[in-house]
Amino acid sequence: MKVLTFEKEFAQRMQTRYALAVTSGTAALQCAVNALEIGPGDEVILPAWTWHSCFSAIVLAGALPVFAEVDTSFNIDPSDIEQRITPRTKAVMAVHLQGNPCDMDQILAIARKHQIRVIEDCAQSVGASYKGRPVGSMGAIGIYSLQLNKTITAGEGGAVVTNDPTLFERATRFHDVGALRAGHEKILGSGSLEEFTGCNFRMNEFSGGVLLAQLRKLDRIVADVRKNAQRVYEGVRALPGVECRQLPDPSGELGTGVYIGFRDKEQRDRFMAAMTAENVPASPPSGSVILPIQKYVENKVTVHPAWPSFTSEHGRQIQYGAAACPRTIDIVNRFAGVLMDPKFSRRDTDDIVIAIRKAYRRVGV
Ligand SMILES: Cc1ncc(COP(=O)(O)O)c(C=O)c1O
Repeated sequence: MKVLTFEKEFAQRMQTRYALAVTSGTAALQCAVNALEIGPGDEVILPAWTWHSCFSAIVLAGALPVFAEVDTSFNIDPSDIEQRITPRTKAVMAVHLQGNPCDMDQILAIARKHQIRVIEDCAQSVGASYKGRPVGSMGAIGIYSLQLNKTITAGEGGAVVTNDPTLFERATRFHDVGALRAGHEKILGSGSLEEFTGCNFRMNEFSGGVLLAQLRKLDRIVADVRKNAQRVYEGVRALPGVECRQLPDPSGELGTGVYIGFRDKEQRDRFMAAMTAENVPASPPSGSVILPIQKYVENKVTVHPAWPSFTSEHGRQIQYGAAACPRTIDIVNRFAGVLMDPKFSRRDTDDIVIAIRKAYRRVGV
């Protein structure tokens, strides 16, 4: 009952009706995409800066990924979504990257207007919230990663949440060879869908046990890392002309890292070198890749040449590569920051602020 108990408590924490535990965030994304019946001929909009799994979940369903730029929140730019919508667009992925919730008011309004579904990918933001609502609970369906680098972990793991019984049933069947087991049947009643072809993404009981204990610590971990990030923000906001990462809801952000922007890559790299000299490592935005410039993405490489994602007319025409996301490349190249830790002491955060102030002045912003 460990996994079922974890699912029950996870749904309560995320304020959703249902939660499904799976083997990874990647598996969770595949469950979400398939729950929404996304397939050949459909298009899904995703940010140009995110993790491989967002792209692969769309392609593995046979649908076509369409990139939108990110803004200085490092998340999908709501003002770049609408022009990417076509009659074939079925969903948009709102990926809350590096602890920072997306601007959900704008994204949900666009989705409502065009009647497309919102998949919230909260892999990097477990425990974050937007205007008081946990990330994952606002779109049609949400996913989380519980892998080693995430807020809570069992080494590997993932979860899917939704308020919609049909989406929950389809995700559950997809994750377990098309079937419903007794535990989920009890939650759903007998279910309303026929059996269909599925995978095995079931979480094991050992991971469920670890995650139950981890989940009960989530709020403490979030409060600690958020407090540390806020101390650093307070110390750097007063710097003359400083451009901080945009935070659509500063009180709901996790505080995974504190990032500032520079004129260009050359100035950013000098800042990082100055930080190294202060013995405080700074790094570019991390944990994601600029997907359109990955070789396999640019060349639309799939396991089979007849893969339906790229054999449709739009699939053949669409061009990825650097020209698909110039603004995203600029932002990722000119921001740098310091990763936060829930266990940092007051002295650690003071040291970070001192180092940032010194390095910032040294590069002459
Ligand atoms: C945004 C995003 N989505 C999905 C995933 C996939 O999660 P997992 O590594 O658990 O498969 C990750 C992993 O880091 C991620 O960063």
